[in-house]
Amino acid sequence: MKILLVGSGGREHALGLGLHADPECTELHVAPGNPGIAEFASCHALVITDNQAIVDLAQKLDVDLVVIGPEFPLVNGVCDVLRAAGISVFGPSKAAAQLEGSKTFAKEVMADAGVPTAHSFTCTTQEEIEKALDVFGAPYVVKDDGLAAGKGVVVTRDRQEALDHALACNRVVIEEFLDGPEVSLFGISDGKTIVALQPAQDFKRANDNDSGLNTGGMGAYSPLPWAPSDIIEDTHLKVLAPMIAEMAARGTPFVGLLYAGLALTDHGTKVIEFNARFGDPETQVLIPLLKTPLAQLLYKAATRNLEGTQLEWRDDSAVTVVLAAKGYPSAPQSGDLIGKFPTIENTVIYHAGTTRNEKGLVSSGGRVLTVTGTGSDLTEARDRAYRAISHITLEGSFYRSDIAFNASVAEKGN
Ligand code: AMP
Ligand code: GLY
Repeated sequence: MKILLVGSGGREHALGLGLHADPECTELHVAPGNPGIAEFASCHALVITDNQAIVDLAQKLDVDLVVIGPEFPLVNGVCDVLRAAGISVFGPSKAAAQLEGSKTFAKEVMADAGVPTAHSFTCTTQEEIEKALDVFGAPYVVKDDGLAAGKGVVVTRDRQEALDHALACNRVVIEEFLDGPEVSLFGISDGKTIVALQPAQDFKRANDNDSGLNTGGMGAYSPLPWAPSDIIEDTHLKVLAPMIAEMAARGTPFVGLLYAGLALTDHGTKVIEFNARFGDPETQVLIPLLKTPLAQLLYKAATRNLEGTQLEWRDDSAVTVVLAAKGYPSAPQSGDLIGKFPTIENTVIYHAGTTRNEKGLVSSGGRVLTVTGTGSDLTEARDRAYRAISHITLEGSFYRSDIAFNASVAEKGN
């Protein structure tokens, strides 16, 4: 099977390694890719906002499957254009990707599907906004209705800050604050059947103890020793399967990865958000743990053939820590030289924002690398990840020191 993977981040590096490891994958192409991906796959220049360029590349390479990594091309409708050209693609149509592209749309589908989520109002005027803020009270949760690359959500006790953010959005969703640990749980869907992956947890704030600004994600781990033992079955039953059934009933089946961001509240599991693609950095801990061959799995989803699929997992834990550039997330510095990588057993260094120039390997984005360690438990996995990341030099860079720390302590206590 010849595969084209679209994207260039740490998520695509992890997906690329997973696809490459599947014996059925005979050729792996990635566009645009990155220097880490180029070590095992053929990379091609690509402007990912150009749907026709993606179709042209897939046709030129004569691939059997296209896998879309990031959200932009999905919401931009690239899967519709690929399917119209007769190409199998793992990724939702433009209409189905609205589950990520519009928070209001996601709320409507959840309401019709009976999926539990925070109560919310979509507002367009100041009067509506102020009313909604006062209905729910602090902490206020204010979300830009459209795609905002992880920066559209403000959670604050400060009413003025909440109001200012709301007024800066075109259309804004104001919702009830959900109290409880957050879990990311992904499902792979062929439009009718959805297969749940094991849960992961990511760390969205820039600094230790969940302080600092919201980011795309600073680290993740899986599995979650503290989570209810039926979390996968429960989420499949109450969230993933009803969403897939509702999307199919609307005539817009969801094919691809449905990412459920969940809050485990005292009143049960509630959905915080959906994304229409693999999460980053959760993918960097899930793919190394997944035993099921990835290329065959995604091909089955793309060709509507998932029924009866059971996933197999390694009996290990994985922890990933993001190395971020100085100034991330507000003003990341780029163009700095990255030192030589250490070789530490059971670790993988995924490139996220790197490029090669005359200086060597340099930083080119806010999240520069993500370093995953695996081990027999979280303590071993995190020791390895931290040992590896501590040996990488990049001026001004930083990483959180508490990824999976509490979970590893809780696990030891069990
Ligand atoms: P989102 O982009 O919707 O994932 O929101 C980013 C982050 O804001 C989430 O990971 C949560 O930490 C927080 N958040 C979003 N919605 C809520 C909510 N209703 N209650 C509490 N926290 C929330
Ligand atoms: N890990 C958060 C995201 O992918 O949006």
